[in-house]
Amino acid sequence: MSDRQKTRARPTPRRAIAETYGEVLANGIARRHVLKGFLAIAGAAATLPLLKAGAAIAAEPSTLAFAELARVRDTKDHWPAGYNRQILARWGDALFVDSPAFDLKSLDGKAAARQFGYNNDFTQFLPLPLGSDSSDHGLLVVSHEYATPFLMFSGLTDEDYRAKLTDDQIRAIMASVGISVLEVRKAGGQWQIVLDGPYNRRIHMGTEMAISGPAAGDARLQTKADPAGLTVFGTISNCNGGITPWGTMLSGEEGAMDVFAGDYKTLPNQEMVERQGWDEDENDIYSASRVEPRFRFEEEPNESMRFDWVVEIDPFDPTAKPVKRTALGRMTHEGAQCSVAPDGRVVVFMGDDDDFEYLYRFVTRDPWNPTDRAANRDLLDYGTLSVAKFDSDGSMHWLALTAGEGPLTAAAGFASQADVVLNTRAAADLVGATPMDAPEGFVVHPKTGKLYVAMTENEDRLAAGEGEAKEQVNSANPRGPNPHGHLLELVPPGAGDQPDYAADSFQWDVFVLCGDPSKAEEGAMYNPATSVNGWFTDPDNLAVDPAGRLWVATDGPPPAGIADALFVMDTEGPGRALPKLFYVAPIGAECCSPTFTPDGQTVFLSIQHPGELRFADDEDATSIADAGTNWPDFVDGQPARPSLIVLSRDDGGVVGS
Ligand code: FEO
Ligand code: CA
Ligand code: CA
Ligand code: CA
Repeated sequence: MSDRQKTRARPTPRRAIAETYGEVLANGIARRHVLKGFLAIAGAAATLPLLKAGAAIAAEPSTLAFAELARVRDTKDHWPAGYNRQILARWGDALFVDSPAFDLKSLDGKAAARQFGYNNDFTQFLPLPLGSDSSDHGLLVVSHEYATPFLMFSGLTDEDYRAKLTDDQIRAIMASVGISVLEVRKAGGQWQIVLDGPYNRRIHMGTEMAISGPAAGDARLQTKADPAGLTVFGTISNCNGGITPWGTMLSGEEGAMDVFAGDYKTLPNQEMVERQGWDEDENDIYSASRVEPRFRFEEEPNESMRFDWVVEIDPFDPTAKPVKRTALGRMTHEGAQCSVAPDGRVVVFMGDDDDFEYLYRFVTRDPWNPTDRAANRDLLDYGTLSVAKFDSDGSMHWLALTAGEGPLTAAAGFASQADVVLNTRAAADLVGATPMDAPEGFVVHPKTGKLYVAMTENEDRLAAGEGEAKEQVNSANPRGPNPHGHLLELVPPGAGDQPDYAADSFQWDVFVLCGDPSKAEEGAMYNPATSVNGWFTDPDNLAVDPAGRLWVATDGPPPAGIADALFVMDTEGPGRALPKLFYVAPIGAECCSPTFTPDGQTVFLSIQHPGELRFADDEDATSIADAGTNWPDFVDGQPARPSLIVLSRDDGGVVGS
């Protein structure tokens, strides 16, 4: 889900948070977690100091040594002194020797398919050659989540653009989403795209892909163009993702409802469609149905079922057909964080980014083969999908979503695994999963074996004692409403030694409760040494750098006085949960998916939807004319361009140290 949609739908909080951090402790909500997690820095004190903005903290316990930024909200972006920032790829930049120059007056589908796409989100550096630890040559795999036509083409507004878009502009939009693969190389301290590199590739709504796994060939996926239900053109709403141990990219399709036109209530499988969160208010935002009839519900009632999956793409084989892996379930997929169990089975952790949705895990049936890459081709088609249930005693359990097991009976609508993966959320409801506060980032810490998960926010969660049981707070989502989000720490058995990511049960802790620690009513919780600049809200993507530090990219709306930003903190030791402000994006943009070279000296970062808010009032921009910025080129009358940037130290040292 784009934050633009979320922002539009954001209701007024139903009540102010009454509990202070101290009261949360006193009331026992997450008490065990708070005390366990912060005892090291609290020393012998039995109670923790309430965090106050500006409170004088003499010690500097963090391993991070850069000069923290001051909070800033600006048309420009900001990075620390002693660092440099390079724009590596802007929307419309060439990916191939023969790419046409970026020209919005003539942009069409053919041109856009040869250029870097719009609204880059997931970003990952993969060293070249595959399996090496090169830090100056590699591939960047990048997803392009969605488009905002009236901020791309001049003369359009949010009110009139659907009718005004030309067919060429619609085709350009459909070619500007999806995936980019870029070969990049560092020379003379600067990174550049290798335009004649053999791996460069664009994948978009015109790219043919296979459908595999339990739902492949299912009658509900069959269309007039594809009576077998095995082949689909395109991927869209490509949000975050992950990288498999064999170096393929997994891309989460995070809600394709935007693309389709018509009355979704005419679709078959009505309950399934509604449980998927489809909403007629957000229909047909690209006018795509005008150029491709398959996007009209009446024309092709099953086309929409062929989206909202995880797609596997092989960036090391430009001829490989992408595959939608239906075994991983159908939801508003955010990321797909991969790890390996001690027995070699591959484990994929996924968030379903919507209020009250769940955390999922997929464990392959078979171990992966590190010596024969091709042997892993169908690994993700067989295995067990499960969903997380959190208990207040600090344990959590992965509940299998397997047809025929427990409540997932034929009578309940789950006669086959195809029924389960097509209607994943309903299956998760039945087994009793814990409704979360819009889960997004999911990262495995390679040194400690722990996992970190970001809950972005949930304004609709009711305080304990109000409304339906589903909407009341639980120990893993302890604030109702939760406008600021939080981070959880999940600990598999054997963490630190040989973590078993496939185990049925983990332990968990609250790691950070986001918000302004100077406002007791927000109930924020960080390391008490957190500065006035270090606190944040709306955590989205997470990453761990080669030195083991946790990076948090935010996707607001951010609090007053700052745009969305990138923060970094230690996860262990005295600097645990002590965030520092490292980078601030231009107004309206979110930061996405920091990714590091193996030497830790370069961080790549996606800057998505710059200018999407107006500078004057932080409301949604309605045209290029009132967009909050035209970063990074600052050419009058021209749109902002989502871009992939590079940050490194002037002296070439490890970022953050
Ligand atoms: Fe695409 Fe959930 O952010
Ligand atoms: Ca977003
Ligand atoms: Ca996201
Ligand atoms: Ca988000």
